Amino acid sequence: APRLPAEAALARLRLYELNDLWAEYDGADQASFSRSYSFSAAHRLHAATLSDEQNRAIYGKCNNPNGHGHNYTLEVTVGGAIDGQTGMVIDLVELDRTVRGVLDGLDHRHLDREIAGFADQTSTAENIVVYLWGELAPPLEGKLQYLKLWETKNNVFEYSGK
Ligand code: NI
Repeated sequence: APRLPAEAALARLRLYELNDLWAEYDGADQASFSRSYSFSAAHRLHAATLSDEQNRAIYGKCNNPNGHGHNYTLEVTVGGAIDGQTGMVIDLVELDRTVRGVLDGLDHRHLDREIAGFADQTSTAENIVVYLWGELAPPLEGKLQYLKLWETKNNVFEYSGK
């Protein structure tokens, strides 16, 4: 930061250790840590409160009664003070165990047929990312800052718990 010209301010640094693992810092008391995970699942977009015709009109081929699948990517960002002893915001092994534990429950499942959370809620990516927040926030004890869910290369959904 001090090496930049006076008229420029350093906004934020992002340091990649791997393509799917990075840390960010903006000069404040806290730092954040992010990691990407993947899982595959099938689903069907169908709202029980709409007619079959309305469902077909709104969801198109995603309303196919036999479902379809996605390879989802979930980016998990946690934040907090850097622990003086470990130098980490969160124990990476513990984060992996927590996130994998939740994602393994969805992996290679049909979301609407097998996951109770989607029994009466359409499995749109918006609802999936909110569901994942509800599953991950409690075990991460206030450190979860941000989730980003890729359903396809072009469709990305973000949620920060609000
Ligand atoms: Ni879909």
